[in-house]
Amino acid sequence: MRAAYVEVANPADPLAALVVGERPDPEVRQGWVRVRVRAASLNHHDVWSLRGVGLPPERMPMILGTDAAGTTDEGREVVVHPVISSDGWAGDETLDPKRSLLSEVHQGTLAEWVVVPERNVVDKPAALTFEEAACVPTAYLTAFRMLTRDAGLWKPGTVLVQGASGGVASAAIQLAKALGHRVWATARTEAKRDFARSLGADEAFEPGARLPERVDLVVETVGEATWAHSLKSLRPGGTVVVCGATSGANPPADLNRVFFLQLRVIGSTMGNKEELAGVMALMERAGVRPRIDRVVGFDALPDAVAALTAGDVLGKVVLQP
Ligand SMILES: NC(=O)c1ccc[n+]([C@@H]2O[C@H](COP(=O)([O-])OP(=O)(O)OC[C@H]3O[C@@H](n4cnc5c(N)ncnc54)[C@H](OP(=O)(O)O)[C@@H]3O)[C@@H](O)[C@H]2O)c1
Repeated sequence: MRAAYVEVANPADPLAALVVGERPDPEVRQGWVRVRVRAASLNHHDVWSLRGVGLPPERMPMILGTDAAGTTDEGREVVVHPVISSDGWAGDETLDPKRSLLSEVHQGTLAEWVVVPERNVVDKPAALTFEEAACVPTAYLTAFRMLTRDAGLWKPGTVLVQGASGGVASAAIQLAKALGHRVWATARTEAKRDFARSLGADEAFEPGARLPERVDLVVETVGEATWAHSLKSLRPGGTVVVCGATSGANPPADLNRVFFLQLRVIGSTMGNKEELAGVMALMERAGVRPRIDRVVGFDALPDAVAALTAGDVLGKVVLQP
């Protein structure tokens, strides 16, 4: 089958590590299910994999991709939940110390077929196209958990989303609006700030801008480039939820501000299968549809990966294998 994979990682030049070519058709183990991938979406996770982050040489070659929507051999239209817990694990998949995301231990979704445990598929909502549904399992699921379980908000408030054009960030803007919050965003260019407004942000600012007032919650995926601003933007008792650190993972902690203002710093990773079904139900009912920058075939995938690496994407990129 045709697939996009990494054989030798390249920390400095992720695009140079991308291979589009033939891989063996997957074998279906007992208790697993084969999904014909109708659409798969890219995430920054794929860039990290090409750089070799979390992917040691002994696991190569590894097919990229965490997200897919497709059809099982029985014709069931499904969305794949990418958090693979270990056999016998009960409870929240994301808390299993032996969990992995698709494309970390098991082959990923940027391929014609993917095999996953039977428990890792959920029904695709009829309202979402395969392309839209393929955007949900990482970006929208993660943003959903950040805005619900991890937000510490039990009434509408003001939410700041950093780095608005990213996959998780654009999802967070849309979902925060759907949950009734006032949403502010930052982005590095005016075109990206316009994009944020078009997603429903009430206002969009330059990175580091002084905001009209302090916010209840910051959704943080950017890391070092925005962390200081995130802490400074919070009201006393406010919460920053962080799921990623694209620009660097070791900003000054500013502990004086954290304890003096009683800030909550919450780490967040993906979501469980029930949350995946939950975010899709919210999207269906609230009319939230992922914003897709482009849909590509394998031939245009390298250009799309280059754009994602450069931060030159508005929302999501989708592959039709
Ligand atoms: N823990 C989890 O479960 C989980 C789940 C999903 C993602 N993540 C992580 O979260 C991060 C975002 O993922 P994604 O797929 O949404 O990535 P993405 O689509 O590539 O978005 C990254 C965004 O971050 C901003 N950014 C990047 N470098 C920046 C810099 N130097 N200065 C300012 N802003 C910068 C950009 O925002 P603007 O250009 O718009 O300003 C960019 O659009 C990644 O690090 C990813 O690994 C973690």
